[in-house]
Amino acid sequence: MAATAASPAVGSSSLSFLRSKRSSRALQPRMAVRSASAVTQILTKLQKDCATPLPILRHVADAMANDMRAGLAFDGGSDLKMILSYVDSLRTGVDFVRFGGDERDEKGLFYALDLRGTNFRVLRVQLGGQERRVIATESEQVPIPQELMCATSEELFDFIASGLAKFVEKKGGEFCLLPGRKRELGFTFSFPVKQTSIDSGILINWTKGFAVSGTPGRDVVACLNEAMRRQGLDMQVSALVNDAVGTLAGARYWDDDVMVAVILGTGTNACYVERTDAIPKMAASNSQSGTTIVNTEWGAFSTGLPLTEFDEEMDAESINPGEQIFEKTISGMYLGEIVRRVLLRMTETGSLFGSSIPEKLQTPFSLRTPHICSMHQERSSDLEAVGSVLYNEAGVDSDTEAREIVLEVCDTIVKRGGRLAGAGIVGILEKMEEDTKGRIFGKRTVVAMDGGLYENYPEYRKYLQDAVMELLGPELSEKVVMEHSKDGSGIGAALLAAANSKYRHST
Ligand code: BGC
Repeated sequence: MAATAASPAVGSSSLSFLRSKRSSRALQPRMAVRSASAVTQILTKLQKDCATPLPILRHVADAMANDMRAGLAFDGGSDLKMILSYVDSLRTGVDFVRFGGDERDEKGLFYALDLRGTNFRVLRVQLGGQERRVIATESEQVPIPQELMCATSEELFDFIASGLAKFVEKKGGEFCLLPGRKRELGFTFSFPVKQTSIDSGILINWTKGFAVSGTPGRDVVACLNEAMRRQGLDMQVSALVNDAVGTLAGARYWDDDVMVAVILGTGTNACYVERTDAIPKMAASNSQSGTTIVNTEWGAFSTGLPLTEFDEEMDAESINPGEQIFEKTISGMYLGEIVRRVLLRMTETGSLFGSSIPEKLQTPFSLRTPHICSMHQERSSDLEAVGSVLYNEAGVDSDTEAREIVLEVCDTIVKRGGRLAGAGIVGILEKMEEDTKGRIFGKRTVVAMDGGLYENYPEYRKYLQDAVMELLGPELSEKVVMEHSKDGSGIGAALLAAANSKYRHST
């Protein structure tokens, strides 16, 4: 595509992010037909609509806390489902085995299956009891073919059970089942499930682009059991857990101060340790600790969010319009798609990449969050790597000025996402602290974090931490430690399977 130096300059305020990064670099020649004013207008409006100054963050944190209370009062009380997990005796490694009053030292081989979004993971863990804790782990990740995300329940669960069966067959040397025991599994199912016990639960609805027929309204453990039977796999599910709950259980095994777990990956969620007497909708509790883990399902939160026309259009065209609004604003599945929609509008209205509009740029989800993350890392003067991503993923030729604008768009969307996630975390911490003064800010409190977005996107992580700091101030935020708990949900699920083992009362 021809380039010329003739187009007018883009508005100065909009390029603040890049100017601070690369102040000395001369601009390259610009595209011939770009309407800089149209592009600038879109960018300026986007930045205004996505802005998250302190009052907005405060409002979101307060609304999160209020919605949590409303969801704890009764089912349907708010957007937040506040699901009771039936995990109520989380202990550290030393006394984890006392679950349910049983003080026997738990050992043995346990499996975990982690159904997340774009893939599932199978894991085996050899537990060595109080002394040796986790002796060995082994895992495998299997991508879920796109077509299975819209298949039938049997097709999806057969695929998963067959992957699990293959993994079980490849058993390595360090792992051994105790004599006379059947294989046991902790099933991490990362979708909203109404738990009916520690090992059963009804799928409320799919999220993250799944639209598998026949599962909503069914017990997902029964679906997995039937599929395992069809595959001839002799294994029983001892615990059904959400990935956030698994992460909390896994992190708590090593650190008693873990009170909250947050997943920021394809989807998003948070869970926390709640006092049972602060849950009006809980009919009766056998919890000896007086606490239980509540799965907030915060992806469905929607109060007071700074949304744009691009968010609204993406939501309207999604398979679950009106649902998971927080998730659609802050999680990995959607950040790249929001950026694509903005760039498409800038091209249609302001010829950002010239006059033609390639099909790739028009294709939903062609630009994904890992792509915008890799562009965001670019430090070279001509932004060559940004140009390659745009060419490969969106099918567009770009000059340096267009690339700068793209980076401004990425930064705006990622900044909003990270800061809102931070506000959500503060909302949870403040709700816990308000109920019991000193419980959170009177000591060290750990928030266990996991998910590819958190792990791999440094700018997102930084924006999140900045927001927590701004909201809490230096003194309180010092008490809050955000710790990456990598793949904690798999180990957590295996630990919960052990704690809930059918053999736990045997000698
Ligand atoms: C699901 C949650 C899950 C989260 C992170 C969301 O879409 O509703 O149950 O924990 O994704 O995987």
